[in-house]
Amino acid sequence: MQRVALIGYGVMGGTHANGYKEMPGAELACVIDIDEEKRKKAEDALGVKTFGSMKEALDAEEFGIVDCCLPTFLHTEGAVEALEAGKHVICEKPMALTVDECQRMIDARDKSGKFLMIAHVLRWWPEYVKLKEVVESGKIGRVRNTMCIRVGGTPMWSWDKWLQDGERSGGALVDLHVHDIDWLCALHGRPKAVFCTASEIDRATGPAHVFANYIYDDLAACAEGAWDQASGFAMACRVTGEEAVVSYSSAQSPTLQLLTSEGAEPIEFEKVSLDGSAAEEGNISDLGGYYAECKYFVDCVESGTTPSVLSPEDAMQNIEIAQAEIESLKTGKVVELP
Ligand SMILES: NC(=O)c1ccc[n+]([C@@H]2O[C@H](COP(=O)([O-])OP(=O)(O)OC[C@H]3O[C@@H](n4cnc5c(N)ncnc54)[C@H](O)[C@@H]3O)[C@@H](O)[C@H]2O)c1
Repeated sequence: MQRVALIGYGVMGGTHANGYKEMPGAELACVIDIDEEKRKKAEDALGVKTFGSMKEALDAEEFGIVDCCLPTFLHTEGAVEALEAGKHVICEKPMALTVDECQRMIDARDKSGKFLMIAHVLRWWPEYVKLKEVVESGKIGRVRNTMCIRVGGTPMWSWDKWLQDGERSGGALVDLHVHDIDWLCALHGRPKAVFCTASEIDRATGPAHVFANYIYDDLAACAEGAWDQASGFAMACRVTGEEAVVSYSSAQSPTLQLLTSEGAEPIEFEKVSLDGSAAEEGNISDLGGYYAECKYFVDCVESGTTPSVLSPEDAMQNIEIAQAEIESLKTGKVVELP
C-alpha cells in the first residue's frame, strides 16, 4: 500500500484526491495546504489529517509519495523539499516556469534516487492515447500535418489569483497550451524550431491567444491556445495522414473519429470509468486521465519501476519550447531549438 501526501488542495488537488479515494494500492495519508479553509474542506470531504506545511507533515506522518498540486511557481520548492526528504514525487504540469527551475528538480531527483514524474495528463487521456495508437498503427498512412486546439476563458478560481498573474502562472501559453506542446512532442518528437504569434501579448495574465507553428523535417504542426473565450472550453487534435485523418474534438460527437474517403466512422477507445465526482470548479469534466496518471505513478513506485511514459527531461523540454515560443512572440522571428 502506497501512502500519499497531497500538497495543494485546490482544483487539481481535489481532482487527484478524488482519484486516490478509489485507487486500489494507494491511500491518502494527509493533505497539506496553507489555507485553513481548504484544510477544513479536505477533512470534511476526505476524512484525512491535514497540515499547514510540508515540514509539519514530514514530522508527523508516514508516507512515501508526495503529490504536488501547488501553484506552478511553487512546484520547484515543493518538489525539491519532498525529494530531499526521500519521497517520490508526482507533480502537476507545467513542471515549473523556467528551465533552471526544472533542472533544480531533476538535480534533486538525481541526488535522492527517488522518482519524479510530471503529470502531463494527455499522455493518459483515453481519447489522446487512442489517437496516438491509431497514428502509430499506420492506419492513416504517413503523417502530413497535426493541429491541436485548447481554448477557454481565463481561470478565475485560483488561490490568491495566482493563475491570473502571468508572472506566477505563465499565462495561457505556459499553463494551458503547454499540454499541446507536450502532446506534439509525444506524437512527433522535438521540433527543430518554433514560430509563434499572439494577441494581447503584454496583458498581465500573459498573452491571451497564441498560435504556434512547429517546424519538423517531414510534417507541419501547429497549436492554438487561449484564455480569451467568453465561455466554454474546447480541446482538439487532428492528425492528417496520406490515407486518412484521425480527429479528436471535445466538441464533436462521437469525440474520436477516423475520416476516410468513405466518410467518418467512430473510433472505440477504452474509458477510465470512475464514480468520483469531477472537480467542482474549473474546466475539468472527466477524472479518467487524472486517475490514470496517478495510478500509473503509484504502480511504478510499488513495483520499483522508473516511470517511462514521459521523463522529467521531457517535461523540462516542454518548458524550453514554451520559452522559445515566448522569444518568438517578442522578436517576431523563428526560434531554433538546437
Ligand atoms: N492537468 C490539468 O489539466 C490541470 C488543470 C488545472 C490546474 N493544473 C495545474 O495544477 C496546479 C494547481 O492548480 P490549481 O488550479 O489546482 O490551483 P488552485 O489555486 O486551485 O490550488 C492551489 C492550492 O495550493 C494551496 N497553496 C498555496 N500555497 C501553498 C503552500 N505554500 N503550501 C501549501 N499549500 C499551498 C492553495 O491554498 C490552494 O488550495 C498548477 O500547476 C496548475 O497548472 C493542471
